[in-house]
Amino acid sequence: MIQRLDKFISSQMNISRNDARSLIKNGSVSVDGLTSTDPASKFDAEKSDICVDGKEISFKEHIYIMMNKPQGVVSATQDPKIKTVIDIVPDDLKRKNLFPAGRLDRDTVGFMLITDDGDFAHRILSPSKHVPKTYIAHLRDKLSDEGRATLENGAVLSDGTQCMDAIVKLIDDRGKIAEITIREGKYHQIKRMFASVGNEVIFLKRISIGNLMLDESLKEGECREITSKELESIEKS
Ligand code: URA
Repeated sequence: MIQRLDKFISSQMNISRNDARSLIKNGSVSVDGLTSTDPASKFDAEKSDICVDGKEISFKEHIYIMMNKPQGVVSATQDPKIKTVIDIVPDDLKRKNLFPAGRLDRDTVGFMLITDDGDFAHRILSPSKHVPKTYIAHLRDKLSDEGRATLENGAVLSDGTQCMDAIVKLIDDRGKIAEITIREGKYHQIKRMFASVGNEVIFLKRISIGNLMLDESLKEGECREITSKELESIEKS
C-alpha cells in the first residue's frame, strides 16, 4: 500500500498531520534506515521499515480494541452530555474513525469491541451471521425451570418479537445468576428476555463475542488491542 509519509505518521501515531510534518522535517523519521525530511514522500507501507526517533512504527491498516466497558458510559462515538466508550479509549490506542461495533446499555459492563474497520463490524454484526454473544445476568428472582426452558426454546418478548433459542446455564447455587448465550442482537434483548419470563436483570456483563472471551486481566474501563489470531476466532465463530 503506497502512502504519503506525513499521512502514515499521523494515522499510526494518532497525531495531527501538522505534528507529523514537524517530526519529519526535524529529521526524526527514517524510511528503510535513511532519514526522510520530505512529508510528501511516498513509500510502500507494507514493505518499508519506518522509524521515529529510532523506534519502529509497525503498519496496521485497522485497529481492533477489546474494552471492559464500565457502567455509566454510552456505546456511541459522541454524546453532548454523557461520556462515550470512545472518550475513554487511551491515547496510545486512539485513532480517527473509531466506533463501537455493537451496543451495550449504559448500565451494562463487559466486552465492547471498538474498531475503525467498518467492513469487519458489518460482518460480525450482520443478523444473518448469528455471531454468538455470552452474558452473565444477575437476576432479581430465582430462574424457574419453566422460565429457563422458555428462554432456551425461544422467548417471545412483550411486543410479540420471537427470539431465537438461547443457551442458559445457572452458575450459582441460588439460581439467580445465569450465563446466557444468544445469537442475535435485538434492542435490550437480554433484559427483555428475562422480563418475558417474569424476572428482572439487575446486573449485566458481556463476557464473550464469538469464541473470544473478555480478558480477565482487564479492569473495568481498561482496553487492549485484539491480536490477529483472536480476531480470526471471532470471525470463525
Ligand atoms: N441485552 C441487554 O438487555 N442489554 C445489553 O446491554 C446487551 C444485551
